Amino acid sequence: MRLETVILLSALLPLCASHGWDPLGWLFHRQGHAQYFGSLQADTPGGECPEECDCPPTFPVAMYCDGRGLTAIPSIPSRIKYLYLQNNAISAVPDLALVNATNLVWLLLHHNQLTSEAIGMKAFSKLEGLERLFLHHNNLTSIPPNLPRSLRDLKINHNRIEKVLPTDLEGMDNLTILHLHDNAVTDLGTSLKSLKSLTQLDMSNNKLIKVPDALPEHLHQFYLEFNSINSLPDDFLGGLAQLQYIRMSHNQLTDKGIPSNTFNVTGLVELDLSYNKLERIPIVSTRLQHLYLQANQIKEFSLGSFCSIVDVTNFSNLQTLRLEGNEISKEDIPSESALCLRRASSIQI
Ligand SMILES: *[C@@H]1O[C@H](CO)[C@@H](O)[C@H](O)[C@H]1NC(C)=O
Ligand SMILES: *[C@@H]1O[C@H](CO)[C@@H](O)[C@H](O)[C@H]1NC(C)=O
Ligand SMILES: *[C@@H]1O[C@H](CO)[C@@H](O)[C@H](O)[C@H]1NC(C)=O
Ligand SMILES: *[C@@H]1O[C@H](CO)[C@@H](O)[C@H](O)[C@H]1NC(C)=O
Ligand SMILES: *[C@@H]1O[C@H](CO)[C@@H](O)[C@H](O)[C@H]1NC(C)=O
Repeated sequence: MRLETVILLSALLPLCASHGWDPLGWLFHRQGHAQYFGSLQADTPGGECPEECDCPPTFPVAMYCDGRGLTAIPSIPSRIKYLYLQNNAISAVPDLALVNATNLVWLLLHHNQLTSEAIGMKAFSKLEGLERLFLHHNNLTSIPPNLPRSLRDLKINHNRIEKVLPTDLEGMDNLTILHLHDNAVTDLGTSLKSLKSLTQLDMSNNKLIKVPDALPEHLHQFYLEFNSINSLPDDFLGGLAQLQYIRMSHNQLTDKGIPSNTFNVTGLVELDLSYNKLERIPIVSTRLQHLYLQANQIKEFSLGSFCSIVDVTNFSNLQTLRLEGNEISKEDIPSESALCLRRASSIQI
C-alpha cells in the first residue's frame, strides 16, 4: 500500500516541479501531507532530505527546517530552491555549508544566532540565483561579505551592524527592498549609490546623524525614523522623482536644518516629520496628502506653507494633517484655511 503511494507520487513529481508552484501555496496544505514525508522524501533527486527537515513531495524544491532547534545548517539537496531555516539556534554559516545549494532562490535564516565572525568569506558566494535573503534578528555586526549580486530582497534588520562598506552592496542591480532598520549604523557613505532598482529602504532606528549621500534614484519609500538627523542637504529630494513616502519622525530636525523648498516636491504623498524640533510648518507641495507634524514646537499656523495661491483650481490635496502636541491651538487656524485645505478630512491640533 505504502509502496504504491510512493511510486504513484514520485511519478507525478517532475510534473509538479515543471509547473512553477507557488512556494507559499504549499503552506496551506502542509499539515495534511505530513504523514507521507517519511516514505517519500528519500526518493527525490539531487540528494536526500535530511531527517530533521521536511521536503514535501508536492513541492519538491522547498525544504522546511524552521523552528526545530537546529544549531547548524543541515546538508541541502541541490534541487532545493526555497530553504526555510528561520527560528533556530544556528550560529554559523561556514564556507562549505551551502556549497551544494546552488539552486537556492530563497534563503531564510532570520531569528537565529549568527555572528559575523562565524560567517565564511565565501559562505554565500556560490548562490548565483539567490533573490531573497533574510538575516534579520541575528547578531551580525556587518553585512556578510560577497553576497550574491542577484539579490532582490535583503532583510538584515535587528542586528548590531555599525558600518556598511561601499563594496557590501556594490553591483546589486536588482536589489529592490533593503531593510537595515534596528541596527547601529552611523553613516552609510556612498554605499547605496549603485542600487539602481532599490524602491524600499528602511533605515529607521539606527544612529544616523545625516541623510545618506547619493540616494538611489528609484526610491519609493524611505524610512528614517528614530535616528539623530538634525539637518537635510540642499536638494535632498531633487533626484528622487519617484519618492512617495518619507518618514523622519523622532529625529532632531530644526527649521534651520531644512532648506526652504525641501518638501515642495510634487511626487510626495506622505510626509512624517513628527517628534522633531520644528517651530514652523515647512512648505509642502499642494499634491501632498498626509502630513504628520505632531510633537514639534510649532508656534504658528502658516497657511502659506500649504497654498501659495488660493482659488477654485489652486488648493491643497492634504487629507490628513496632524499638529497636536505643538504650541498652537484651534484658534490659530485662519478662517481662509477652509478654501485651501478643502480636502482635509482630519486636522488634529
Ligand atoms: C555536497 O555534495 C557532495 C557530493 O554529493 C557531498 O560529498 C558533500 O557532503 C556535500 N556537502 C554538503 C555540505 O552538503
Ligand atoms: C549577541 O551578542 C551579544 C554581545 O556579544 C551577546 O551578549 C548576546 O548573548 C548575543 N546574542 C545571541 C542571540 O547570540
Ligand atoms: C537582474 O535580473 C535580470 C532579469 O531577471 C537578470 O537578467 C540579471 O542577471 C539580474 N542581475 C544580477 C546582477 O543578477
Ligand atoms: C512650491 O513649488 C511650486 C512649483 O514649483 C511653486 O509654484 C510654489 O510657489 C511653491 N510653493 C511655495 C509655498 O513656495
Ligand atoms: C493656479 O493659479 C495660477 C495663477 O493664478 C494659474 O495659472 C493656474 O492655472 C492655477 N491652477 C493650477 C491647478 O495650478
